[in-house]
Amino acid sequence: MTSTHYDVAIIGAGPGGYVAAIRAAQRGAKVAIVEKQYMGGTCLNVGCIPSKAMLHIAETLHNLSSIEELGITLPQPPVFNMNKAVAFKDKVVKRMTSGVSTLMKGNNVDVFDGLGSVDASRTVTVTKDGNTQQFSADKVILANGSVPFIPSMPGVDGDKVMNSDTCWNLPKTPESLICVGGGVIGIELACMFEALGTKVTILEMLPNVLAPVDEEVRKLLVRIMGKRGINIVTNAKVESIVDENGLKKVQTTTDKGEQSFSAEYVLMAVSRRPNTSGLEQLMEQGLDTDRGRVRVNDNLETNLPGIYAIGDLIHGAGLAHVASMEGEIAADNATGHPAIMNYDVVPNPIYTFPEIASVGLTEAAAREKYSEIRVERFPWSAIGKAVAIGETEGFTKVIIGKYGEFLGAHIIGPDATNLITEYSLAMRGELTVDEVEETIHPHPTLSEGLREAVLAAEGHPIHIPPRQAARAR
Ligand code: FAD
Ligand code: NAI
Repeated sequence: MTSTHYDVAIIGAGPGGYVAAIRAAQRGAKVAIVEKQYMGGTCLNVGCIPSKAMLHIAETLHNLSSIEELGITLPQPPVFNMNKAVAFKDKVVKRMTSGVSTLMKGNNVDVFDGLGSVDASRTVTVTKDGNTQQFSADKVILANGSVPFIPSMPGVDGDKVMNSDTCWNLPKTPESLICVGGGVIGIELACMFEALGTKVTILEMLPNVLAPVDEEVRKLLVRIMGKRGINIVTNAKVESIVDENGLKKVQTTTDKGEQSFSAEYVLMAVSRRPNTSGLEQLMEQGLDTDRGRVRVNDNLETNLPGIYAIGDLIHGAGLAHVASMEGEIAADNATGHPAIMNYDVVPNPIYTFPEIASVGLTEAAAREKYSEIRVERFPWSAIGKAVAIGETEGFTKVIIGKYGEFLGAHIIGPDATNLITEYSLAMRGELTVDEVEETIHPHPTLSEGLREAVLAAEGHPIHIPPRQAARAR
């Protein structure tokens, strides 16, 4: 029997769900959130946050190889302790996840610990260890997120075959690792493990890793990763994994026939699938889905009235910041403040070193869509701050339309994931190259590279000679 009533109930406390809860509470709603596993969801527990903590350690270690030049002498090679690194990562995760619990409390959101099941009448049943609680809600927001997709392939459930849920607490650095899949997870984790001392091979079935990334940017990253000794094999579809001589042998079909690769560990990173646990009743009652993902309209409402869906559960970018924005929009709609989700400007960060970040169209997509575009890049080697911090690899690339509008921007280099916000804001605000050019950028900063790229596109960069600028054009 329903014992309590809420204005808004949210299933799942990832970056989609917990942000929706806060926004709904700010709108004056009585809010419940149900979480079955961990506050903060994938992102805070096994995704964005632990990966960035471990990547920070890995990048620090990587940078130590050039520290002598700065006048600092350390024992070479420096001693790395995986247990301490994991303890640091755990501390970061704990701090962030308890922060979410504090935010729920501070916003008077009732947290239910257990698996939430929902029906079309918006009754929510919470199950934990055989105990059941039930409540009703005027509106429900489904924020169930996603889990690693594990293909049915021989050997995939074997010992030392990991995925992004299970790779964070290794007792020591693997000697060698095969990443199956050269998407964002495979590439970020390859960078991480290589810097921690692992011999890494990436097996990707497509002709390119990071297929959606701008070609020029991708090519540079692949070159840099190759120089570090990461073996990237493309056109290699992984078919099975077997144990041989104490190693994992990964069998592939490639354009050159069958080929196998061996390593101590395998990391499966072949995409994620929506987590539909607890949605069985809704499915039976006609919840509209497309290849497992819940379908929504521009207001993020499903075909069942009063039931919204957000984040990795729906089609979209598969990014935490998008899930959070969807959470705000769904909560606005659920509390009587009509809002539409706008996907025109979605920044994409990739935490390799050097970092990659992009917004808008790639050069290839822009050329296909528009007849008149200008494309220009500006190298970090000509920016004082980048030289001062010893991070001169890479460039900023802008794609400008006929009216001086930004069609796309791509950065490979230091702090790219922070810097991309300037271009995102410019695109969202429909600014043109003129506004960026007329904005004084502080010196010495990396942000100067963003303005210089625009100046280069306009044909008058300051910090590269005219001949070099013309050649780049
Ligand atoms: P999730 O974070 O998956 O949260 C869903 C929550 O719902 C989970 O806690 C789950 O337990 C709970 N749940 C599910 N069903 C029920 C139920 N029936 N009852 C109760 N609770 C339920 N994105 C970025 O933007 N930047 C990054 O740097 C980044 N790095 C990543 C690194 C890795 C290794 C991975 C795997 C992902 C990364 N992502 C990153 C993607 C990001 O984690 C997801 O896009 C984001 O977590 C999606 O948020 P969400 O709220 O939709 O779902
Ligand atoms: P993905 O879809 O980005 O990449 C998976 C790759 O695996 C593809 O390139 C695919 O061709 C390849 N593949 C599939 N089956 C294969 C096989 N049998 N053999 C060889 N290759 C195979 O998925 P990924 O990397 O798992 O990431 C999932 C999502 O997580 C991303 O799309 C992204 O949304 C999110 N994420 C975001 C991050 C960020 O924003 N920095 C970081 C990590 C994840």
